[in-house]
Amino acid sequence: MNARADTAARTADGLDVEAVRARFPILRTEMQGRPLVYLDSAASTQKPDQVIARLTRFYEHDYANIHRGVYELSQRASALHDEARRKVQRFLGARDWREIVFVRNATEGINLVAWSFLRPRLEPGDEILVTEMEHHANIVPWQIVAGERGARVVPAPITDTGEIDLAAFAERITARTRMIAVVWVSNVLGTVNPVEEIVALARAKGVPVLIDAAQAVQHRPVDVAALGCDFLVFSGHKTYGPSGVGVLYGRAERLEAMPPWQGGGDMIERVSFEGTTFNEIPFRFEAGTPDIAGIVALGEALDYLGELGLERVERHEAALIGHAQRALAQIPGLRILGEPRERRGALAFTLEGAHPQDIGMLLDLEGIAVRTGHHCAMPLHARFGLSASARMSVGVYNTEAEIDALAAGLRRIAAMFQ
Ligand code: ALA
Repeated sequence: MNARADTAARTADGLDVEAVRARFPILRTEMQGRPLVYLDSAASTQKPDQVIARLTRFYEHDYANIHRGVYELSQRASALHDEARRKVQRFLGARDWREIVFVRNATEGINLVAWSFLRPRLEPGDEILVTEMEHHANIVPWQIVAGERGARVVPAPITDTGEIDLAAFAERITARTRMIAVVWVSNVLGTVNPVEEIVALARAKGVPVLIDAAQAVQHRPVDVAALGCDFLVFSGHKTYGPSGVGVLYGRAERLEAMPPWQGGGDMIERVSFEGTTFNEIPFRFEAGTPDIAGIVALGEALDYLGELGLERVERHEAALIGHAQRALAQIPGLRILGEPRERRGALAFTLEGAHPQDIGMLLDLEGIAVRTGHHCAMPLHARFGLSASARMSVGVYNTEAEIDALAAGLRRIAAMFQ
């Protein structure tokens, strides 16, 4: 059956997947003469028409630089940009719009915290606690500042099921721990980590905590005020928004105590050759002209998710991942990495005798897009005794029929290699 023509693809709670799909123009693309089956949303989500239209409309009707002009167009662009910040604030449940810093992506948000918040506090022998399942973006920035200061990054172990060993994690919080940085949803295993318990552990020991929510906020509702983390990051391009814009949430008292990271326009109060004073938060961390249109379109993407309802999105995607687990588990020689109690978004696997790269290329011949390689998580792959895997990941527009198409493709590949 043509996956895209699966008009029966409706979930019981009323999410009309075909109506959702109709909003994503790229899903009408054919690849290799077949309907595109896009199963790589963990790398980047596709964009709904209203986000694309917002970008175009902004450039056609509202565009000027922001916070710099007294003329009407600049005022209008500034108002739209500032409104987007309020949308992000509401989306995350932050108490204060000043807690929302626009960056390029989740990676830049983590780098900002590493350089501005952590680096000045680090002393030789200090530790930054992460887990074995982190994306490189939540390892390398900490390693760079730790290396400069004689500190070190400590990985908490994960179990064979691909979950954080919470007892072992708690044991690794020592008097030398200066920062805890943990991924909410693994970009490889799809494991949903117990971030509430991790934040509680960190707070009980007085250690600041950052949550990498790059694979979380598009799949489930978030409330940073209730969660109580110090920092949280996510990327616009994985949240149905444009690439080039991301968000750092930081508790106001943390951001207020942090020095600037990059210097330039907009982040200053007064500049002279005798000395410069800096702007208030969040502007202090936003040097130079930002991706104005991208920020406005990110606001539109969050509106779109709000209209769909994140609870419904979560139920739909949880059902898809459950279906994928069952379908892929029946394929001879296929090994799914990890077996977490709660899995969202992504699922990684290997196939006996087939290199992940070959799996990706053969699936591409059928119009099926999955990611292959180490998925920016080499330590996680090493933990599972691998250097690479194949990964399927879902977005709100995917259907069970598409997962069945993947499973059928994998069966054919399994037969070729075994
Ligand atoms: N971090 C993105 C992924 O997991 C790019 O594919």
